[in-house]
Amino acid sequence: MKHLLTPHCFVLQANCTSALVGSSIASKIDATFLDPPFNQDKVYKAWDDNMPAAEYWDWMRDVCAKIYALTSDGGALYFMQREKNTEFVLRCLREAGWAFQNLIVWKKKTSAVPGMKRFGKHYQVIAFATKGKTPRVFHRLRIDPPLPAGYKHARKNGVFVTDVWDDIRELTSGYFAGDEALRDADGNRLHKQQTPMQLLLRMLLSSTAPGDVVLDPFAGSGTTLVVAEQLGRKSIGIELDAFNVALIRNRVMEPRKADDVSRFFQDYISTPNLNAIWGTTRLFPASSAVQQIPLFLPQR
Ligand SMILES: C[S@@+](CC[C@H](N)C(=O)[O-])C[C@H]1O[C@@H](n2cnc3c(N)ncnc32)[C@H](O)[C@@H]1O
Repeated sequence: MKHLLTPHCFVLQANCTSALVGSSIASKIDATFLDPPFNQDKVYKAWDDNMPAAEYWDWMRDVCAKIYALTSDGGALYFMQREKNTEFVLRCLREAGWAFQNLIVWKKKTSAVPGMKRFGKHYQVIAFATKGKTPRVFHRLRIDPPLPAGYKHARKNGVFVTDVWDDIRELTSGYFAGDEALRDADGNRLHKQQTPMQLLLRMLLSSTAPGDVVLDPFAGSGTTLVVAEQLGRKSIGIELDAFNVALIRNRVMEPRKADDVSRFFQDYISTPNLNAIWGTTRLFPASSAVQQIPLFLPQR
């Protein structure tokens, strides 16, 4: 079922395996964020998170190939996964036709998951690939992170973003998740895998221009759509679970202050032509009153 959320944004309540075809998605896709279930045996209502490994990676290769067929020349794919799956991610992208660009290490700005017999885990990977070797859009963003200890002189003009992203906090279950994490009236997280908006902001600013079309085939709580809408990009989400589709609908149609990405503009201020790259905020026009999300969600 198709839900039109704004003139520039819709979500399909569907299985992406069958929905990733031209008849459901009419326009060419310019960039995709792929954040699938990680097949780590979590109990979910709408899908099996404990598939045999070979079956899971066949599925991922099929999804990557379908996205490839829908993508414009030079369009981008960002595929997020656990670090231990890196070899499978890279193989799957290669076999689906994608050209490798970077293996981004998202070193989470939260404490590591401790390991008793190995080193604690502190990062997740995001493979960045394009359709053909040359990206159709790549904006070299500049940021100005705190100076490392021992550096005396402030930078004049920031530094280019590299393939190590260590300035973005994960939305963990505790208070660190802050206002951005969607919660019910009792404070329980409404989507445990909600991605930080700052990750999407960096990917979309880097690999798209205003007016481009962004796809998220595992849309979850709708982070990609909420960020795309604010940057003047068009967006398409696909999500299997009706509860999450309702979450997305509320999140896009009833904007929350915590979802306003304009507070991150200053982080990229050293980037040439930032205003043109950023595009026009559609969710939070200066005159509109920003509301709290009303949660008219179906029962779990
Ligand atoms: C890791 S979460 C994505 C979280 C998302 N990035 C966010 O910010 O909320 C994966 C999502 O994929 C959905 N899903 C699982 N299998 C699917 C399928 N075959 N087609 C579409 N969505 C699916 C799940 O319901 C879940 O919400």
